[in-house]
Amino acid sequence: TTVYPFNGAHQSGITTPAQDRLHFAAYDVSAGTTREELIELLQDWSVAAARMTQGKEVADGGAVDGSPLAPPVDTGEALGLPASGLTITFGFGPTLFTAEDGTDRFGIADRRPAELEKLPRFTGDNLQAGLTGGDLCIQACADDPQVAVHAIRNLSRIAFGRASIRWSQLGFGRTSSTSTSQVTPRNLFGFKDGTANVKSEETKTVEEQVWVQDGDSAAWLSGGSYLVVRKIRMIIETWDRAQLQEQERVIGRSKGEGAPLSGGKEFTEPDFDAVGATDQPLIDKHSHVRLAHPTQLKGTKLLRRGYNFVDGNDDLGRLNAGLFFMSYQRSPKQFIDVQRALATDALNEYIKHVGSAIFAVPPGASKDGWVGETLF
Ligand code: HEM
Repeated sequence: TTVYPFNGAHQSGITTPAQDRLHFAAYDVSAGTTREELIELLQDWSVAAARMTQGKEVADGGAVDGSPLAPPVDTGEALGLPASGLTITFGFGPTLFTAEDGTDRFGIADRRPAELEKLPRFTGDNLQAGLTGGDLCIQACADDPQVAVHAIRNLSRIAFGRASIRWSQLGFGRTSSTSTSQVTPRNLFGFKDGTANVKSEETKTVEEQVWVQDGDSAAWLSGGSYLVVRKIRMIIETWDRAQLQEQERVIGRSKGEGAPLSGGKEFTEPDFDAVGATDQPLIDKHSHVRLAHPTQLKGTKLLRRGYNFVDGNDDLGRLNAGLFFMSYQRSPKQFIDVQRALATDALNEYIKHVGSAIFAVPPGASKDGWVGETLF
């Protein structure tokens, strides 16, 4: 079984090869919680997360070895399961620094990086109030869904009285590869997703595009990153009635191999100037990969780390399914620039953005330290 470190220069769960399963939760800090109580929460979370990522129970005594007269400290559903590559990654939303009503609850308003703002409204946004924002977030990824769920459940339990879940999401079938050691998985439109993603092996690109550097706007965030989360509903039934040729035009790649429509294999660079017999570009002007490609965006890249989701069905019997998009970047501007470029994306006919949130993701905890120690 794979075990990833919890402590280190960067938090795990970002450049870590994407695991198969996700449980993501956004939290609100409870009214009346003090600065000291918030710090204690982050310390308690860090201790518990460090243990769980090593495959241990959340605290000594665990599910069955404590007092029979007390509720067990660990909920028990991960007893006997290995670490399963669990990573637990914490983020801080804009409202942690400055509450919706403008108050500085924790004395950190002046520590808020200028870029950490609620995302602007984008063309086609259809956001639902219950799927946006959050003071804090936790991304738990593992190769076993029970291990990821156990992590979020126990961290929520530890937060009782100090923070509670605002919204959350389960995901499966990673839609991105973040390492060259991984084969490219497919999203629910049936296309390979992650081909041109930033890979952890590209160390120079990761430094330039993913990690906040010394000299960027907030020194405490150096070695951290920004996480953008978008819950994107797929209009599956409309997509499934589209011709294969139309599906490939929309993406700009072939469905089988994932090769650019300008030719070659999966990892061949797309040639956006290539034209066919009728002088039409082989990669459509409005295709997703053309609009999102770094050459169209002054070199901007994102580290995508999304998951598929199916939340049952709606009352018309349609699958409530889509892509839980997550990307890590050195500045929120990178996501904003790409998402704005996608305003005329042919894909927009088949998708709907329903959830959105942004978080500053602090650097990793030092040895015996805690996540957020550089902020307070
Ligand atoms: C590439 C699907 C949303 C950014 C791709 C590819 C597919 C895909 C199939 C080609 C393979 C690859 O390189 O990974 C989707 C679907 C989406 C979606 C189905 C919604 C349900 C988004 C969003 C963003 C985004 C919201 C960012 C704002 C990118 C980028 C690339 C890409 C940067 C790589 C482009 C390149 O360098 O060639 N996407 N995507 N995608 N997508 Fe998306």
